[in-house]
Order: sequence, then structure tokens, then C-alpha cells
Amino acid sequence: MEELKTPLIHYATRGQGTALMLVHGFPLNHTIWNETAALLEDQARVILPDLPGHGQSPVVEPVSMDSMADGLAAILDALGIEKVVLAGQSMGGYVCLAFARRYPQRLAGLGLVCTQAAADSPEKRQARLAQAEQTLAEGSQRVAESMAAVLTNRPEMAEGLKHLMSTTPAAGMAAAMRAMAERTEMSAFLPQISVPALVIAGLADAIIPVERAREMAASLPDARLVELEGVGHSPMMEAPQATAEALLGLLKRAQGA
Ligand code: MLT
Repeated sequence: MEELKTPLIHYATRGQGTALMLVHGFPLNHTIWNETAALLEDQARVILPDLPGHGQSPVVEPVSMDSMADGLAAILDALGIEKVVLAGQSMGGYVCLAFARRYPQRLAGLGLVCTQAAADSPEKRQARLAQAEQTLAEGSQRVAESMAAVLTNRPEMAEGLKHLMSTTPAAGMAAAMRAMAERTEMSAFLPQISVPALVIAGLADAIIPVERAREMAASLPDARLVELEGVGHSPMMEAPQATAEALLGLLKRAQGA
């Protein structure tokens, strides 16, 4: 595995072939994709970024879905890659949608994993902004504890996820919460995404309901929907084999195979 840095975003790469970038959700880091990436690296050049303020990437304040999408484009520039198959989980999916809008010419395929095109409701937005303040005041532990309980449908994974999240600095969490609160509604944009798309939903997702995935799949012109039984918000960890197979299908469609 090769580890490189751009000024703002750290990333890892593994394997050779068609570029496949996998983006983690809040408040995690690229390592959540490791098991799935290991199943794909024979067939793709897998690129695993740490979003700003997560993993080894420094905190950037303010940050937005658009600026994070720009960070992904900067990684592609650094690697000399023109087009990518891009997939993201949850907040990572919000960033992928922003990338699709900002860089349509660089997108070969789009994967949306346990995510949504909808923006926050006004109530959710207020709650997030308040939670950002609280996190800055109290540190990242409370978020790590509360999210560990809902990030997976596999209780034995919760402790490891809690540990991983507790390494995310409070300032990184708060910046991402503000960015999510400010993100724009993307539902009306979906019909314009003409590249092959994959929507993955965990039927036991406690954070984003499966209906959001079904709505996105219905609006995207060329989408396949994969619903995973018994899987929660983290299919790349809970069901790496099924997730890798679905992503491989997306890669093949993006290659026109
Ligand atoms: C995530 O898993 O990235 C976040 O929980 C998504 C969200 O809160 O909207």
C-alpha cells in the first residue's frame, strides 16, 4: 500500500487498474474501506482518502461538501487520473454528489452507499449546529459513543468503531457537522447524472432509511439498487464481500463491459 499527501487531504492507494475512489462517512476515516478494498485491488486502483479533519487529514475550517469534492479532485490531479469511479458512504456520499455536480466530466461511475440526496430538515440542521458547539466544548468522546451504537447492525463491531471515531479530533467533527448542516438538497440533480450508478442500502440502517436509497435509485437514469438484508449503516465493514461485488459490477458497467 502507498500512502501520499496532498496539501489538504491524506490518502492511501492500493492495486492497479481502473481508478476507484472510496470515500468514508462521518466521523470515520479511510480504514473502514480496508476489507472491501482488499477484495477489489486485483481489479482496480483503489484510492482511499481521509476527508478533512478525519484520519490523517488536517482540520480545515470552514469546510463544505463542495470544498471536500475539490479535495478529491486534487487527489486525482496529483495521481494524474482524469476519470474516476467514485463511491461514498453516508457523508462520503454527500461529497460524491457534490463531486458529480462540480466535475461531471471526471466521473465514470457513481456509488452511493447508505446515503441520501436530501438535505437536513430545518430541525435537523439546528440540532447539528448545536451538536457541533457541544462537541467543540466537550471533545469527540460523546459523538464516538452515541454513533457507535447506530453505525452498525453488528454489535461486536461497535467497540472498534468507537475507538476509531474517538481518534477524530473534535474540531474535525464540528467542521463536518457544520458542512452537513449547510449542504444543499441534491434530489433534483440526480436525473442529470448520466453515468452508471450503484445505490447500496442496508436494510437495518439505523441512520438513513432505505426509502432514501430507493428514491435515489428511481431518480438516477442508470442505477442499480442493492439492498442488503441484516446490514446496517456500514456495509463495507458488515458485508465486505457483497459490497465489493456490487462495486465490481459498477466498475464493469463504467468500463462498458
Ligand atoms: C454519516 O454516517 O456520515 C453521517 O451520520 C450522515 C449524517 O449524519 O447525515
